[in-house]
Amino acid sequence: MVLLRGEHVKTLPSESPLQRKFHQAEVSHVGTGVRSILSLPWLYMLHQKVWGGDILLRLYVRGFLHPIKNWTRILEIGCGPARILQHLPAKIEYVGYDMNPRYIEYARERHTGRKTFYCQHIGEDTLRPPSNYFDVVLATGVLHHLTDQDSKSLIDSAYDCLRPGGFLLTLDPVICKKRSLFERIVMPMDRGQAILSFDHYVSLAKTRFETVHGYVRDDLVRVPFGLIQTRYNHLIMNCSRVPGCEKR
Ligand SMILES: C[S@@+](CC[C@H](N)C(=O)[O-])C[C@H]1O[C@@H](n2cnc3c(N)ncnc32)[C@H](O)[C@@H]1O
Repeated sequence: MVLLRGEHVKTLPSESPLQRKFHQAEVSHVGTGVRSILSLPWLYMLHQKVWGGDILLRLYVRGFLHPIKNWTRILEIGCGPARILQHLPAKIEYVGYDMNPRYIEYARERHTGRKTFYCQHIGEDTLRPPSNYFDVVLATGVLHHLTDQDSKSLIDSAYDCLRPGGFLLTLDPVICKKRSLFERIVMPMDRGQAILSFDHYVSLAKTRFETVHGYVRDDLVRVPFGLIQTRYNHLIMNCSRVPGCEKR
């Protein structure tokens, strides 16, 4: 078992054999020890506020979701406590699922109407979202918590439940060749232990999606009062299901 640790990745080129092993880690999500407190929804929400996660989400919705036209049906995989709903119009139809029952309960208590939430692991076959139905599937901060096998399962399920012309949007930390001091310190603390390179994330998405565009941003994490320099690379992928050339 190889876990993501700063010392393993700091001198590696983006697709070295050692780095490829990170995604095969048996433990791709760490929810034990100190990190277990983040499974409490209110602490997770507070943590996101402190690190600027809410600003990030607002920028993300404005920059990547709003330019997509005509979306009213959204599926969010790994929805957590459904933070994103603060930034979306109230009238949309939304389905979210996550493996953490506390997050799901928190989301259910706060959102009614055409919002439904399910507790489920990615890769489990119990929930089958309808095929060809959703305009957008979101997986925000999720792929880096998954093994390659589970990522492929997420990508397959996103593809199948999108209508032709629909999009999967993902956002995750990404390992670039030159990492900042902040990344060296913070990345190994992430609950997600499968932080990958740009090429690796894109190759996973391309196993199903016809068109994948990746955008790297290094300015989406903010520490209050700008106390320290926080260059931290994120990859946003916009994966589209192109009508008429569906992959099976
Ligand atoms: C960084 S959080 C992001 C949550 C939410 N998307 C947000 O933006 O706040 C990652 C989420 O993925 C969920 N997750 C991780 N592995 C999962 C799996 N195998 N199946 C379902 N959910 C998973 C975690 O419970 C957590 O809620």
